Amino acid sequence: MTEIRTPRLLLRRWHDDDLAPMAEINADPQVMRWIDDGAVRDLEQTAQDIERWEEEWDEEGFGLFAVELLASGELAGFTGLSLVEGLPDVPAAVAISWRFGSSFWGQGYASEAAHATLEFALQDRGLDQVVSVTRAGDDASENIIRKLGMTEERETVDPVHGFPLRVHAIDLTEFEG
Ligand SMILES: CC(C)(COP(=O)(O)OP(=O)(O)OC[C@H]1O[C@@H](n2cnc3c(N)ncnc32)[C@H](O)[C@@H]1OP(=O)(O)O)[C@@H](O)C(=O)NCCC(=O)NCCS
Repeated sequence: MTEIRTPRLLLRRWHDDDLAPMAEINADPQVMRWIDDGAVRDLEQTAQDIERWEEEWDEEGFGLFAVELLASGELAGFTGLSLVEGLPDVPAAVAISWRFGSSFWGQGYASEAAHATLEFALQDRGLDQVVSVTRAGDDASENIIRKLGMTEERETVDPVHGFPLRVHAIDLTEFEG
């Protein structure tokens, strides 16, 4: 079982009892503001998401980690890796992403989890490069991207919704883990 411990967090595969807290996170419009078209996701959609994330772990050997606070055992959100395909002018790549409940923002948890995820990508999975794909305007994500040392590669558009997207990348040989 793939698990990572950081000073404050446990990054792990998904459990059945993550559904309710993850659905609560997905139901918050503030959280979903910069994701796809900004629509919230209900309990059933969240259950399907978690099932898909677990399938990606089984198929690819990487995926989105459930992020639990070590101090309280609460699910704070997710951070992890997924395959991105089908973006105009962007070759298929492994992307890092994050989503935390708003009560967990502003404490450095997302950056701590993202840093551990890049270490996992490099040291455990042996990946050469990780990208991030964010909507233009998502300043909180850009702040994490900057702290990770990722650099802007190109702009593209969301093929479904037409929003401008920014693609950043890091060669993991450059990553100071
Ligand atoms: C994007 C998102 C994860 C960012 O969360 P966040 O809490 O702002 O990010 P961080 O973990 O970097 O923490 C931010 C701040 O916590 C503060 N902080 C407090 N205690 C800290 C500590 N012990 N260590 C580090 N930072 C700490 C820092 O000031 C830091 O800000 P700074 O880098 O400007 O100094 C969050 O806004 C979110 O979940 N958004 C919705 C989902 C989303 O849009 N995802 C993007 C699609 S990829």
